[in-house]
Amino acid sequence: MIKNAEAILKQITQGVYVISVNNGKQKNAFTAAWVMQVSFDPLLICFSINPEHHSYSLLKKGGVCCISVLKKKQATVAAHFGKSSRQDKMAGYSWLETSTQAPALEDSLAYFDCRVDHYSDAGDHKLVICSVIDAAILNKGEPMLYRDTGDMDSSSDLYE
Ligand SMILES: Cc1cc2nc3c(=O)[nH]c(=O)nc-3n(C[C@H](O)[C@H](O)[C@H](O)COP(=O)(O)O)c2cc1C
Repeated sequence: MIKNAEAILKQITQGVYVISVNNGKQKNAFTAAWVMQVSFDPLLICFSINPEHHSYSLLKKGGVCCISVLKKKQATVAAHFGKSSRQDKMAGYSWLETSTQAPALEDSLAYFDCRVDHYSDAGDHKLVICSVIDAAILNKGEPMLYRDTGDMDSSSDLYE
């Protein structure tokens, strides 16, 4: 294992996002940092998801998601959606309807409404490559940076 892997990997600049999913009957949302644009034409965004997440099963069934960009001061939002819960994690937050039915977080900087194009295996995660169906800026502000979240995702143990 690389020494200091966690600190070195945090030198890769990443934002923090809330990704909502909808399987047609049930919705959920989780916090993600491993998100990036991967194509101009067609416009594709990719994210990496642990297949053990509740959201993954809903995503596989529904094939849609919405990626909302968190602001700098939304650490409590990131922490809330970063915890797994079979109860309605989305309650108490305001959501905007989108064309895919995966809702956008109203109090976010921007959203990307997406349909899954394909999946790819990536070690203990799955890469989800998504076509962007719609996108919009919602609010002004600076984006949250993953490196500023410390060990909110409890990932430090995973580098040992
Ligand atoms: C700051 C932060 C970043 C995270 N990034 C990711 C990520 O990129 N991919 C992922 O699969 N999980 C990521 N997680 C973990 C999930 O958000 C977390 O396991 C969540 O409980 C999954 O929710 P679910 O089981 O309700 O779907 C992150 C958590 C935090 C707090």
